[in-house]
Amino acid sequence: MIVEPSIAKTRSLIDRWRTSGETIGLVPTMGYFHAGHLALMNQCRQTADRTVVSLFVNPTQFGADEDLDLYPRDFEGDCDKARAAGVDMVFCPEAGAMYGAAHRTIVTVSELTEGLCGVDRPDHFTGVTTVVTKLFNITGPDYAFFGEKDFQQLTVIMRLVNDLNFNIKVVGVGIVRERDGLAMSSRNAYLSASEREEAVVLYRALKTIRDEAVCKRYRDSSALLTSGRALIERSPACTVDYLSIADERTLQPQHTVTDRCRVFGAIKVSGRIRLIDNLALYG
Ligand code: PAF
Repeated sequence: MIVEPSIAKTRSLIDRWRTSGETIGLVPTMGYFHAGHLALMNQCRQTADRTVVSLFVNPTQFGADEDLDLYPRDFEGDCDKARAAGVDMVFCPEAGAMYGAAHRTIVTVSELTEGLCGVDRPDHFTGVTTVVTKLFNITGPDYAFFGEKDFQQLTVIMRLVNDLNFNIKVVGVGIVRERDGLAMSSRNAYLSASEREEAVVLYRALKTIRDEAVCKRYRDSSALLTSGRALIERSPACTVDYLSIADERTLQPQHTVTDRCRVFGAIKVSGRIRLIDNLALYG
């Protein structure tokens, strides 16, 4: 496995693969790999001839009061896991190489970024779409893989690829969960044992809403959300950031559940660890 921090060398190595007729898959990550990342890498390996993983904790998608400095990192462990997963290259640029002092360009997707996570994290998605655009331009992939846990991010990236005419197929990969249902996330590493036990309440609330909508055919979003919220509020360490039933293409909240709806949730555990999750309300 090649581990390459240089943008120029990454370009020329990938160009060589492409010239010899191989397809390229990109898995953009911020590292601290768990089974969710490994699922993205596996899907990439099954789809493309070459699997490139970018490992870059992107400073521009963190707000001033967020956890950039504390974000969990394990470079050696990540390289071991990527190697074992059969990855061909880890591209791991320095922040200074991605954002030189003269950097002035941002990429913004409107509307889709304004609700859900965009309410509390107003600049987050501009950071994501700017870095993902740069990663696409550096690696020139045929395919790019994103987890459905960050469903809003996946939707925004699909819009970006369409709007800017990138010739890239974006593939969404299903959420990988712990045995009790908690969605895998690098941020789970921050949870103490008791916080970890309580954090699963987000999944339970979404699952309750899903069961009521899918099995019992309840259609009133506001009633469904009230029962989900009440469940989370019973957990002393957890507070609701948002709970929303929205159309999965437009991400607009819906009063009545349709077969294009998902329930989206974000909680804070002990006021500091922000976790997100979502479930389809159909199927
Ligand atoms: O989902 C993530 O880990 C990040 O938002 C991404 C897509 C790698 C961009 O930094």
